[in-house]
Amino acid sequence: MPARNALFIPGPTNIPEAIRRAMDVPQEDQRAPDFPKFTLGLFRDLKKVFKTTEGQVFLFPGSGTGGWEAALTNTLSPGDRVLAASFGQFSHLWIEMCRRLGLEVEAIEGEWGEGAPIESYAERLADDKDHRIKAVLVCHNETATGVTSDVAALRRALDAAGHPAMLYVDGVSSIASIDFRMDEWGVDLAVAGSQKGFMLPTGLAIVAVSRKALAAAAGAKSYRCYFDFADMARANKDGFFPYTPATTLLRGLRASLDMLQGEGLEQVFQRHHHLAEGVRRAVAAWGLKLCARHPRWHSDTVSAIVLPPGFDSNLLVRHAYERYNLSLGVGLAKVAGRVFRIGHLGMLDEIMLLGAIAGAEMALSDIGVPIELGSGVAAAQAHYALARPEARRAAAG
Ligand SMILES: Cc1ncc(COP(=O)(O)O)c(C=O)c1O
Repeated sequence: MPARNALFIPGPTNIPEAIRRAMDVPQEDQRAPDFPKFTLGLFRDLKKVFKTTEGQVFLFPGSGTGGWEAALTNTLSPGDRVLAASFGQFSHLWIEMCRRLGLEVEAIEGEWGEGAPIESYAERLADDKDHRIKAVLVCHNETATGVTSDVAALRRALDAAGHPAMLYVDGVSSIASIDFRMDEWGVDLAVAGSQKGFMLPTGLAIVAVSRKALAAAAGAKSYRCYFDFADMARANKDGFFPYTPATTLLRGLRASLDMLQGEGLEQVFQRHHHLAEGVRRAVAAWGLKLCARHPRWHSDTVSAIVLPPGFDSNLLVRHAYERYNLSLGVGLAKVAGRVFRIGHLGMLDEIMLLGAIAGAEMALSDIGVPIELGSGVAAAQAHYALARPEARRAAAG
C-alpha cells in the first residue's frame, strides 16, 4: 500500500490531525439553544484573522469563487463600473465573473509574473473625476504566477486620488498565510476560502465586509438570494444561519482558528516566509527561474517555476504524481505547459517541504531537465538548518 499522497498544490492543503479529529463528530442541531455560544466565537476570532474590528465576517457554503460572487452581487448593481487588473488566471477569472454579472469592467492588462500594476490603477482613479468607478478589485496573491501584490499601496492610490470607490480583495491564497490587514488597508470586501490557509476541506467561502460595504449592500440591485448578506447578518446576529450550516466544517474551523491563534498569526506568516525561502533557494540551485519577476512579488504561499524551453510542465507534474505520489500544481492558462507550482501553505514544516523539493528534483531529472540531483534539497537544507542561529545554539546544548 503506498503512503499518503504528498500534497503540494496551492490548495486544497494538508489537513492537520487536530482539525480532522475536530470534524469527526456526529451531526448536530443547528437550532440548539447553545449553538450560538459556539458560532459567535467563530465570528469573533475570524475577525482577528482578517485584522478587522469594524468589519463583519460571513461564512457561506461554497468555495472562493462563491465568495467572489457574494462580494460583487451584494454591493453592486448591473452597469456599475469596476476597475480591475488581470495579471494571472485568478484575477482574470474574477473579471470574467464581473462581466457575466453585468458589471462594466475597466480592465487593466497586467503582465503575468508581475504584481498588480498600482501605477495604472492610480492613473485610472485620478482620471475618474466624476467617480463612476464604484469598485476596485485586486488579487492579493495570484496563485497562478506565485505573485503577491501590495494592497496597502493600492489603498494609498485610492486615497491620493480622493476616490470613494470600495476596495475588493481576493485573499483566497493569502489570508491566514500572508499578512493581511483589512482595517489598516481600508479593505471593504475580502474573500477567503476554507481549503488554503485555514487548512480545512473545501466548502466554506469566508467573506469579510466593511461597514461601508454593508451600507452599500442596502442599495445594490444585483440579483442575489442564497448569498445575501442581509439574510446572513440577520440570522448571524443571534449565532444562527438562514439555512442549514455546514456544522462539521464549522467544528473544523474552530480547531483551525485555535491552531492559528495558538501558533500566533505573525509566527504563521513568518513560518510561511521561512519555508517559501527554502523553496526559492532550491529553484535557484536548479538554475531555474520563478514566474514572479522580482523578489518584491515573491509569494510565500506558492512558487510558480518556469521550465527551460522544450520541456513540458504538464508531463513533469504527471510524472511526479505517477512515479513519486507527489502532487505539484500545473501551469494554468497562459503559462500551461511552461510552469509548474509548488504550494507551500497551510500545515507544513521544513521536513515535509524537503520531501517535496526532493520529489520535484527527481521528477525534473527524470524528464531530462539538466539539474543536479540533490542541489535543490541541499540549498533548502542550508537555509532551513542555518536560518535560526538560536535554534542551532539550543540544539548544540
Ligand atoms: C487567488 C484565488 N482566487 C480564487 C480562487 C478560486 O477559489 P475556489 O477554487 O475555492 O473557488 C482561487 C483558487 O485556487 C485562488 O487561488
